[in-house]
Amino acid sequence: MDRYKQLLENNQDWVRRKLEVDESYFARQAEGQQPPFLWIGCADSRVVPDEITGTGPGEMFVHRNIANIVTHSDLNLMSLLEYGVLSLRVDHIIVCGHTHCGGVQAALGHRKTGILDKWIRNIKDVYHMHREELEALADEQEVWNRLVELNVREQLMNLAKTSFVQRRWHEGEFPVLHGWVYHVEDGRLEATLRMTRDDPMDRIYRYEFDDAV
Ligand code: CO
Repeated sequence: MDRYKQLLENNQDWVRRKLEVDESYFARQAEGQQPPFLWIGCADSRVVPDEITGTGPGEMFVHRNIANIVTHSDLNLMSLLEYGVLSLRVDHIIVCGHTHCGGVQAALGHRKTGILDKWIRNIKDVYHMHREELEALADEQEVWNRLVELNVREQLMNLAKTSFVQRRWHEGEFPVLHGWVYHVEDGRLEATLRMTRDDPMDRIYRYEFDDAV
């Protein structure tokens, strides 16, 4: 059988199984979404947010791109962030990197590919910011792993610098920002960082909000 046809058959099985357990399942799904989590992860096919976190439909608003980059010039992510943070009002934003990330590996190399180079440049910038620490490490594998972690940290900072996140922080403690690393080799999710509105940030990035708004 063509492999794509299997996907459609799997879907029919899934619908059947869902309805067996709860016949109004899809009717409720159609009423709307109020996910508590926003996930920003790598597009890598091995890092499947729902499956590795045990979440189901309606629980996680998801954005994935190569190497889980957060950059304010990304119209797609910024639109999603604005909607997720200010309209859906998610409580938690998770930036999840992963070991064996091809995007991070590409950033450590010097091969020219095409437009992807422009995207990967974001990670080279992270390397540049942490060059001293990275170059003190013993081997390439350690550098690769550490750059995955540092990339997550910098992308978390990029989230904190957005007016959307700061708008919510002006009102209360949410959203809490989480930096995680998924270990492809053993399936483990590691929580490496947590950032709240009380964490320090260079004040040049701080916005002021009018309380009347
Ligand atoms: Co990746």
